[in-house]
Amino acid sequence: MNHQETVSHANRLIRDKLGDIQAGTLGLVLGSGLSAVAGAMTGTVDIPYTEIPGLPQSSVPGHGGYLRAGKLSGRPALALCGRVHLYEGFSAAETCLPVRLLGSLGVNMIVLTNAAGALNPLFEAGSLMLITDHINMTGQNPLTGPNIESFGPRFPDMGRAWCPELVALARREAARLGLLVERGVYVQVPGPSLETPAETRAYRQMGADAIGMSTVMEAIAARHMGLRLLGISCLTNKNSPDCMQEISHEAVLDMAAQSSDQMTRLLCALAARPELDSAPGRA
Ligand code: HPA
Repeated sequence: MNHQETVSHANRLIRDKLGDIQAGTLGLVLGSGLSAVAGAMTGTVDIPYTEIPGLPQSSVPGHGGYLRAGKLSGRPALALCGRVHLYEGFSAAETCLPVRLLGSLGVNMIVLTNAAGALNPLFEAGSLMLITDHINMTGQNPLTGPNIESFGPRFPDMGRAWCPELVALARREAARLGLLVERGVYVQVPGPSLETPAETRAYRQMGADAIGMSTVMEAIAARHMGLRLLGISCLTNKNSPDCMQEISHEAVLDMAAQSSDQMTRLLCALAARPELDSAPGRA
């Protein structure tokens, strides 16, 4: 099966199980240690990725691996619990198949979450960061190869990849809840090795505030399909060139788990907002 066939086959399978997807359904991608957000959903039905032919299976602890359908604060939601990464050996396009599936099901807004290192020295571990823009340092692009016209245009614009209105709405909701949220630029690197001090300094000088090994590929695929995007990074560690601290995957998962309560509160508050209903598909 090519990617278009995989997505349309998976689309039929999901609609056979769940029925048609309602207008206003929120898409979520829950990254490392953040699957707890899915615990706030009600009336849930889980479909393991193993039951969806062609979807890549994660090999990384902390990445779950199922699609959860249900409601978040009364809003229909489809959450991808667990994702796959370039460093596992998947192609850029393969890492985006689950997001493309959500787009094909009619989701028109998606929240991408991740665990990330804070490059901005003013940002603290344990805070959340709303993604305002991104830098792709993977050397790869999920749209490489023949364009799939039914997904989107050959040269999708990325000038407003991350919806500023959604960032503003998320800031307002965070303030109302008393949550500290930063705003900044996220850079995706291929991983799996972490950064040297020289790399950390270079990415900071480039203008990145947070760094991680996911999300940008999905953002490109989502914008290709015209989805509105919001990104929330959970800053799990400070990544500072002048006092490098050893970063373990376990510590990243631990910190993400500690912050998942804040992430859940923010996502529940956002899902309840009527403004999400007015989100046009191709913003
Ligand atoms: N660097 C890269 N990826 C990460 C980091 C980091 O410091 N923290 C969590 N994911």
